[in-house]
Amino acid sequence: MITDEKTIKTLIKEAINKLPDAYAPYSNFHVGAALLTQDGKIYTGVNIENASYGLWNCAERTAICSAVKEGERHFSAICIVGGPKGKIEDYCPPCGACRQVMSEFCDPDFTIILARSEEDFELHTLGELFPLSFNSDNL
Ligand code: THU
Repeated sequence: MITDEKTIKTLIKEAINKLPDAYAPYSNFHVGAALLTQDGKIYTGVNIENASYGLWNCAERTAICSAVKEGERHFSAICIVGGPKGKIEDYCPPCGACRQVMSEFCDPDFTIILARSEEDFELHTLGELFPLSFNSDNL
């Protein structure tokens, strides 16, 4: 679990800064994510929607794909922010598909930061939000 205030605030700031890049013309719900690698690099992501509704991609998965395609495999935290037209009104918890994708690369103590602002956030772990996951150990 990441608890360092400076790191948490940096991730929140990076996630909020990405909100204008969200491509969400169908739901109008903009999401930004900032993913921290275990060696301190940050990869960001936004949700990317499509006229073929089933093809929407969440911000968290965009961030994870951006990192993995650069050879990253080890992550310690992600911050997620979102709201209607990019205005943050509440916490934006990760959807089930994103929790499953996180579980492919992240340990149960991976930190999930849900934020409304740099001052207003809560910390969770993947193990808490996604217990009894199906993973490679089950194959
Ligand atoms: N969304 C995310 O980007 N992350 C989540 O975990 C929750 C949902 C996006 C998908 C869609 O573009 C919009 O938010 C509304 O569901």
